[in-house]
Amino acid sequence: MRTVFSYLLPYKWAAGIAFIFMLLELTVELIQPLLLARIIDDGILQEDLTTVVVWGSIMIGLSLLAFIAGILNSFYAGHAGQSTGFDLRNAMFKNIQRSSLDKLQPFATSSLMTRLTNDITQIQNTIFMGLRIMARAPLLVLGGAIMAFIINARLAFFLIITIPILILFLLWILKKGVHIFSLVQSQVDRVNHVVRENLTGIRLVRVFVRRLHEIERFFAESDALRHRMVQAFRLMELTMPILLLLMNGSILLVLWFGSFQIENETAQVGDVVAIVNYATRITSALGVFAMIIMVFSRARASALRIEEVLLEPDDELSESVNHPAPPTLKGELTFESVSFSYEGQKTDVLKEISFTVKPGETVAVLGETGSGKTSLFQLIPKLYEADKGEIKIDNTSIKEWNIQMVRKQLGYVPQSIRLFSGTIRENISWGVPDAPIEDVHFAAKVAQIHETIEKLPDGYDTKVGQQGVNLSGGQKQRISIARALLREPKILLLDDSTSALDTKTEERFLKALEQYSCTTLIITQKLSTARKADKILLLEYGQIEGYGSHEHLMEKSTFYRKIYHSQYGKEG
Ligand code: GTP
Ligand code: MG
Repeated sequence: MRTVFSYLLPYKWAAGIAFIFMLLELTVELIQPLLLARIIDDGILQEDLTTVVVWGSIMIGLSLLAFIAGILNSFYAGHAGQSTGFDLRNAMFKNIQRSSLDKLQPFATSSLMTRLTNDITQIQNTIFMGLRIMARAPLLVLGGAIMAFIINARLAFFLIITIPILILFLLWILKKGVHIFSLVQSQVDRVNHVVRENLTGIRLVRVFVRRLHEIERFFAESDALRHRMVQAFRLMELTMPILLLLMNGSILLVLWFGSFQIENETAQVGDVVAIVNYATRITSALGVFAMIIMVFSRARASALRIEEVLLEPDDELSESVNHPAPPTLKGELTFESVSFSYEGQKTDVLKEISFTVKPGETVAVLGETGSGKTSLFQLIPKLYEADKGEIKIDNTSIKEWNIQMVRKQLGYVPQSIRLFSGTIRENISWGVPDAPIEDVHFAAKVAQIHETIEKLPDGYDTKVGQQGVNLSGGQKQRISIARALLREPKILLLDDSTSALDTKTEERFLKALEQYSCTTLIITQKLSTARKADKILLLEYGQIEGYGSHEHLMEKSTFYRKIYHSQYGKEG
């Protein structure tokens, strides 16, 4: 709880002012029964109209004061709550941006999204309610009890014995509530997860006629959420009847013994009325308590979930700070017995990988699906860190360099293409926002997409993404290649990026690519592509099965020959 609420500190003034106005409201509320007692005893029972008018006017004046204090309290409480949530959300987002992928692996995307939205809202509500009523309720209970004690200690005794019992009971509810609400929040995660999966895969759902199945799946999770919520509310609803039973019992006792005291004149009518009045106020305050407990248990569950993300150390960048930036790279790439496994996995995805690529060379990475090609690529920009061995660029381990600076000289086209909402031009110049249009055109020409873009209604200013045109997979792939090229990378990583290009276009692309004279690693399934590279790196089950020219592999590797014959036929 501490970390999340430390975000309230910058707004301690607003919170403080809200608190003071809350105290003002509370004081008025506590004085009211006292004034009521005066009106009854000195005014009505003495038949003195002036006293009634005077005390009555004071009561109205104070009510007005409380009303204004209430409005101002809301204003400042709202400010403190919303601002804290705003800061928390930003901090969380920043943390996610800075965390290494390994650290983020345990969190589902949908869970991070729930944490950033729903969980933050819970915290905002709690701070608001806290400054508005949360502190008021216990203070009202305490203040009411004290005031009742001052008026008539013997009668107040009946109030005071029930309150501790009630508080213990409420604490027990709180403990149970935190648990149930953490279940509620993770169920919210699951509902979001199903929605997200469904919406991102909506085409697949239609084609596979899985609509009903998806509806059922959603219904099941949604129903589970309802069930959890009902469970939580049942627990909370338990509080009111028990509360009323105990409090009404003690009010009855006050009335019963009060009537005796009035008879033998040890108490006045006004006193008894005032104490009963305090008792009802305390009862309603305790009722508010029950609601507060619900909000608080939910906030506590949310705070824990937020902290899980907040406490992630931002290791990826802070580590880089003290390392020097590399000069303009030549683009030599070396792997020295590199082994790697994903977080929480026992078997190595890559085993003892060693190879060298000279500056300007093109290497085709070939291997069956799941052989570790993408994993190998992801190690180069240090998206993941190798467990063993060294990856060197220009003969220096990438651990020793400021990784952001290294990344600036890398071009990466991932296997699953992602365009951002915006124009095509914005998408291509995403890594170099101020690139001149000529450079953008040049990169697009090399990527063999320039002509296609020119033919679109708005050319380079055509919008893509949710509000724009839908591009074909191959078109997106090529825009993505242009995006990587615009950075004039020293090392270019193409993960299956030419799969959608026909042989002729691919040939033209590879030829044009020579103008960038960068070291190129290109993952491909096609031998026709691989053969055009200077060297071929053959991966099998995360190990290097062969490395060298086509002729070299034909001679040395039975595995390579097998692929060759399967793609070209025996006579090939
Ligand atoms: P294709 O792209 O299908 O040709 O395969 P690939 O050669 O690129 O394989 P990749 O490197 O993606 O995967 C190698 C192995 O790592 C597979 O067994 C995957 O199950 C595993 N793997 C890939 N990505 C992840 C990941 O993010 N987390 C975990 N835990 N395992 C992964
Ligand atoms: Mg892959």
